[in-house]
Amino acid sequence: SFEQSLRPQKLSQYIGQDKVKSNLAVFIEAAKMRKETLDHVLLYGPPGLGKTTLAVVIANEMGVNVRTTSGPAIERPGDLAAILTSLEPGEVLFIDEIHRLPRAIEEVLYPAMEDYCLDIVIGKGPESRSVRLDLPPFTLVGATTRAGAVSAPLRDRFGVLSRLEYYNEEQLTDIIVRTAQILDTDIDWNAAVEIARRSRGTPRIANRLLRRVRDFAQVRANGIISLILADEALELLQVDRLGLDNIDHKLLKGMIEKFRGGPVGIDTIAASIGEEAATIEDVYEPYLLQIGFLQRTPRGRIVTPLVYNHFKLEVPHK
Ligand code: ADE
Repeated sequence: SFEQSLRPQKLSQYIGQDKVKSNLAVFIEAAKMRKETLDHVLLYGPPGLGKTTLAVVIANEMGVNVRTTSGPAIERPGDLAAILTSLEPGEVLFIDEIHRLPRAIEEVLYPAMEDYCLDIVIGKGPESRSVRLDLPPFTLVGATTRAGAVSAPLRDRFGVLSRLEYYNEEQLTDIIVRTAQILDTDIDWNAAVEIARRSRGTPRIANRLLRRVRDFAQVRANGIISLILADEALELLQVDRLGLDNIDHKLLKGMIEKFRGGPVGIDTIAASIGEEAATIEDVYEPYLLQIGFLQRTPRGRIVTPLVYNHFKLEVPHK
């Protein structure tokens, strides 16, 4: 698809995550030298940092196809068995949101990952017996936003554990310039830097903001993205200087106005602004923790003085 073509296809095109990349490059080269299948890889970290992209890149580097599914999409053990038995030798199976696999299905995965086989139970009750079915060797690439939510027995069966980190401004600028090139869009360097600054360390957000700013440029500025155009567009998109959007604002201001800056529990915050607690925990909170706007304490979340400064509010004396 179009979206797919924006994604880097090889490690050399993949910007950022340098440690993850250089380690993977070694493991991939070693597996290829030994003519072996790459060991299973667990990718974890906040959403939008390139876990799916990396799974595709791994498959490309190994010269194999990738089959993609997700934890919640696999409902019965038979669903997983159907996928595993249809793989070609050496293929990559990518399971997104792997922490959401039902436990009964995880148990099908254990022998599949360890010994490339399936234990299938035929019949019911005292008449039932177990049959062992050989599978083609494969590489499981699992992705999760919460390493802590992956059960220990599953986590232990991955040979490679890689944590993706937020991108810095330079890396995001490079990604934006690269994407603009692919989209055949003119962008000034300082405009790319400004979009990068407001992308919350996240390529998915950078590329989305770039597309929206490009729409403004197309309609209002002959398609050229200058710094002034980018600033105006980002203002209209309600993305502030730090990349915080109206949900971040609602969350932070809600904590200040309703809970005097905390400490307050995640469920209480969620209910007060009408968002899911899990969405706040997985999507919004990690970046706010990263930039030091939120802190977790045993009694709940608190906002830091940085938040008051950002909103030009007086820091309360407690
Ligand atoms: N597009 C999105 N993420 C990317 C990355 N990490 N490198 C290059 N292009 C990207």
